[in-house]
Amino acid sequence: MAIIQVESLSKSFGSNHVLRDFSMQLKEGENLAILGKSGSGKSVLIKCIIRLIHPDSGKITVLGKDISQLDQDEMDLLRADVGFLFQSNALYDSMTVRQNLLFPLRRHWSKERILAEADEAVKEALEDVGLAHTIHMMPAELSGGMRKRIALARTIILKPKVILYDEPTTGLDPITSREISELMLSIQRKYQTAAIIISHDLSSIKMTANRIIMLIEGRNYAEGTFEQLTKLQDPKVREFFVGL
Ligand SMILES: Nc1ncnc2c1ncn2[C@@H]1O[C@H](COP(=O)(O)OP(=O)(O)O)[C@@H](O)[C@H]1O
Ligand SMILES: [Mg+2]
Repeated sequence: MAIIQVESLSKSFGSNHVLRDFSMQLKEGENLAILGKSGSGKSVLIKCIIRLIHPDSGKITVLGKDISQLDQDEMDLLRADVGFLFQSNALYDSMTVRQNLLFPLRRHWSKERILAEADEAVKEALEDVGLAHTIHMMPAELSGGMRKRIALARTIILKPKVILYDEPTTGLDPITSREISELMLSIQRKYQTAAIIISHDLSSIKMTANRIIMLIEGRNYAEGTFEQLTKLQDPKVREFFVGL
């Protein structure tokens, strides 16, 4: 069974036809990268998958459920299984790291479960990203790479079955970008999660992705491994790989 299936998705904003008949499948356990230029519709796609944006047409199935058919409670339940790492991190600046990590637990766990298990869950998530010592710090005290790690800890604390990464390394220096990519791999290994990684960072994609889809002109223009795509002669694909 596909973890996520997108069939003939289309979405326009006025005369801006962002997604045109876009289809894809995320398989169990794989890291799938969506590679596309800035403004090509990568974030729109991911927002459709978590139903923050409603597509004009097409069908999206997440963990076996047609998301257009779910009521709000069912969608909230599904969201616990679908971790989302925002490009902006979306940490709460007025809350400590611990409070930021408790936030998703408050939303999805009972009071009893929080009392019994939250401290351990916060500890494990922070250890997973190598930042146990920051538990009482404020986001403003952390570097960009550390904030990205905390956002990742908050994403994995609910042990999602699938993680959606929106430009996880954009804006980070090459060394930090590599560290975040390594972390994404170690999370894939430890929790056997499937992931969609939206990016235009080729070195991160090369490290983390088992498969790549090229989002060009709103369509699934080409897909394959990094090796396979670098061999294609199509100029629209080639321009992503010039210099490699
Ligand atoms: N809520 C919105 N209203 C109008 N236009 C939007 C909206 N969200 C995205 N767009 C447009 O859709 C296109 C794709 O945006 P986006 O998915 O954010 O690109 P990217 O691939 O860089 O993530 C852009 O032209 C953007 O301006
Ligand atoms: Mg984007």
